[in-house]
Amino acid sequence: MNALEGKIALVTGGSRSLGLSIAQTLVEQGAHVIITARNQSALTDAAKILGEKCLPLQMDIRNPASVKEGFAMVEKTFGRLDILVNNAAVGCIHRIDEASDADLHAQVETNLLGVIYAIREAVPLMRRAGGGDIISISSESVRLPFPMLSVYAATKAAIECLATGLRDELRPDKIRIATLRCGNIAENSGFGDNWSDEVKAAAFALWSSTGHLAFAGQPVPQGLVAQALANMLCLAPSGGADLVEIRGR
Ligand SMILES: NC(=O)c1ccc[n+]([C@@H]2O[C@H](COP(=O)([O-])OP(=O)(O)OC[C@H]3O[C@@H](n4cnc5c(N)ncnc54)[C@H](OP(=O)(O)O)[C@@H]3O)[C@@H](O)[C@H]2O)c1
Repeated sequence: MNALEGKIALVTGGSRSLGLSIAQTLVEQGAHVIITARNQSALTDAAKILGEKCLPLQMDIRNPASVKEGFAMVEKTFGRLDILVNNAAVGCIHRIDEASDADLHAQVETNLLGVIYAIREAVPLMRRAGGGDIISISSESVRLPFPMLSVYAATKAAIECLATGLRDELRPDKIRIATLRCGNIAENSGFGDNWSDEVKAAAFALWSSTGHLAFAGQPVPQGLVAQALANMLCLAPSGGADLVEIRGR
């Protein structure tokens, strides 16, 4: 029997790259997986790859009403939730004094508030299931924040702090909360698609001179990160991983 047979999982940002790879691994392990994102056609394409155990659900995690509506649909369809993967995030490169309001709002609302909204809605559904697992995707940039990406790094540090604080709060409900930090991802990431060539060139020149590029090292395959996440989920309920970091070699 597959390790996650019958489990109900929701992966935010499951329409592409790492989120899709995680959703694929969970489906292979027997779970029913709800994937969420804003772009409906990307969700539909991803659902075709994932097959009948996938429910694509349009949801904007920056919008609390949209998140409530999405989880209400999960409740209506499955009656409970066992696994939440907080994967959706955005990163913008900018010097702090040149950051636009739009970039600041996008990062804090997606990467921090979005995670909080999702956890708030997931907890009652997990209580109903008798427990559950919440895993948030963080970044190696918490350990070594890159200049011009420091607001992004700060949002990731914030969700790690959130997880630490919630661990004891949710323990009586048998809900485990963990962080999976990952390094630079290899394949097909849309992360950075919104970066202009000019700002990107400035950032890479800076990271090269500061040594941050050398620290980033080899990219880590998405499948490896997804496998690590599945392994965290399969740990016996008597224990659990609080923080796992996966980097390329
Ligand atoms: N890429 C890297 O090298 C790297 C390194 C370390 C950590 N990470 C972390 O790994 C995770 C995945 O990164 P990735 O590279 O796979 O990102 P990506 O390719 O940009 O995919 C992001 C996903 O999140 C969704 N999303 C973005 N904003 C959303 C919103 N407001 N509401 C709902 N969904 C939203 C996107 O779909 P829509 O746009 O259609 O909504 C997409 O499905 C992130 O947490 C990131 O911080 C990435």
